[in-house]
Amino acid sequence: MSDTTQEKLQLGILSKDVIKHIDHWCTKFPEEKKQSAIIPALRYAQDAAGGWLSEDLIKAVADYLDVPHIKAFEVATFYSMFDLEPVGKYKIAVCDNISCKLNGADKIVDHIKRRLGVNCGETTEDGRYILRTCECMAACTNAPMMQINDREYHENLTLEKVDEILDDIDKQEDGK
Ligand code: FES
Repeated sequence: MSDTTQEKLQLGILSKDVIKHIDHWCTKFPEEKKQSAIIPALRYAQDAAGGWLSEDLIKAVADYLDVPHIKAFEVATFYSMFDLEPVGKYKIAVCDNISCKLNGADKIVDHIKRRLGVNCGETTEDGRYILRTCECMAACTNAPMMQINDREYHENLTLEKVDEILDDIDKQEDGK
């Protein structure tokens, strides 16, 4: 472990696990192109930090990759998958583009709003969910769809299916 790595672990900004993932991604690019690992590095850092990136965290990722802070800030502020303030642990994004809209996306959004008691862009009081709409996620043939936490796709949604998905999450969280 390098001195620099040790320093960051001591500062507690990047966890060992995050550093392990960043190191893994760095092996995929030439040494002088570490900047290419910024997106996965920020994603792991964000996940480990509870779903959002503080300025210190963005700087720590940039420092670890030996790139100027501005490069990491450019990425973090450009992509919608990054949040720069605390948000719900589960990020629900319902696609409301044409195929999904024609197949009932508005009803899905209204149903989730009612169930969670939030409007789009808001986090539930318990910090469990944030609800958003999003642009086409390339799942148009199985519209309507929603994504949870930038990874899980749920397609051919119905109100019942939405409830099952959210019930499962609630059970999992309440059982902790
Ligand atoms: S329009 Fe919703 S996934 Fe394409």
